Amino acid sequence: MKVLVIGSHGMLGRDLVNRLSNLSDQKNPGNEVIAVDREHVDITHGEDASKFITQVKPDVIVNCAAFSNVDACETQISEAFAVNARGARNVALAGKQTGAKVIHISTDYVFDGMKNEPYLETDKPHPLSVYGKSKLEGELAVQEIKGNCVIIRTAWLFGPYRKNFVTTILELGRKNRSVSVVTDQHGSPTYTTDLSDAIRTAISKDLRGIYHVTNSGTCSRHEWAQKIFELTGNQVSVLPLKTTDYKRAARVPQNSSLDCTKYTATTGQKMRPWQEALKEYIFQAM
Ligand SMILES: NC(=O)c1ccc[n+]([C@@H]2O[C@H](COP(=O)([O-])OP(=O)(O)OC[C@H]3O[C@@H](n4cnc5c(N)ncnc54)[C@H](OP(=O)(O)O)[C@@H]3O)[C@@H](O)[C@H]2O)c1
Repeated sequence: MKVLVIGSHGMLGRDLVNRLSNLSDQKNPGNEVIAVDREHVDITHGEDASKFITQVKPDVIVNCAAFSNVDACETQISEAFAVNARGARNVALAGKQTGAKVIHISTDYVFDGMKNEPYLETDKPHPLSVYGKSKLEGELAVQEIKGNCVIIRTAWLFGPYRKNFVTTILELGRKNRSVSVVTDQHGSPTYTTDLSDAIRTAISKDLRGIYHVTNSGTCSRHEWAQKIFELTGNQVSVLPLKTTDYKRAARVPQNSSLDCTKYTATTGQKMRPWQEALKEYIFQAM
């Protein structure tokens, strides 16, 4: 099987290419992974994307490309929609035209965070930020194409290939005796390696529709930071902060934890707790 990973230099894309390549070696020697990023194909250019995908003729396309800087999206609105909405559509359309399955990656930030429980796939999205709005428009465009598509919504990614919340907190901890972290944002930290394995499962089980996939369990950003210092043995105080006292450009949901029951029920795979994944990342991958 030929799998095309778009956005392969990103945090998820790089880990996914690794995991898919390992799978190719061990279990499916026939699999071929083609890793591309913006310099090979710019998904905002529909014709280029279509021509490229037609030439490659993949069986599966995983679209990890995104304008993922949530705060920058607030000022670079047209770029955000170009990549996250029109780019998503271009990839899904080219996938349909060439008969490829398309796995599109989306986000918890399509929700407004007002729900007191984890969000289901059937809950109505209501994004608060430009990033969330552009990602939702991308989801809707992918669905409208009516190809063989699956949308995987995930959240709070960390992994070995880019600066993320864990690396930022550790860096702050090296320079300060205390760090202030918000207590009123709740979500599910998700290891890119575990998400990559779930994407492999989505390919092998030929999932269709929308699925929520995160590591299991929910925490506040404050609790996440405390766990990072506990695991690394750093004596840094984590002081509580309220979102309203932390100035940033984008509004983000207070609760964006995702209910992954549908993924587990359909595939028989359970995502492990975020604490276990974090431990493995810190001790094996950092
Ligand atoms: N990070 C998170 O916490 C998080 C949470 C929930 C969902 N997600 C979703 O998960 C997916 C992966 O996120 P990530 O954190 O891995 O993102 P990332 O690290 O920012 O990687 C995105 C990749 O896409 C590339 N890209 C951007 N515009 C492109 C274009 N026009 N054509 C081709 N490639 C382009 C980027 O290249 P450049 O570097 O050159 O721009 C980058 O290599 C995204 O769909 C994101 O929305 C992420």
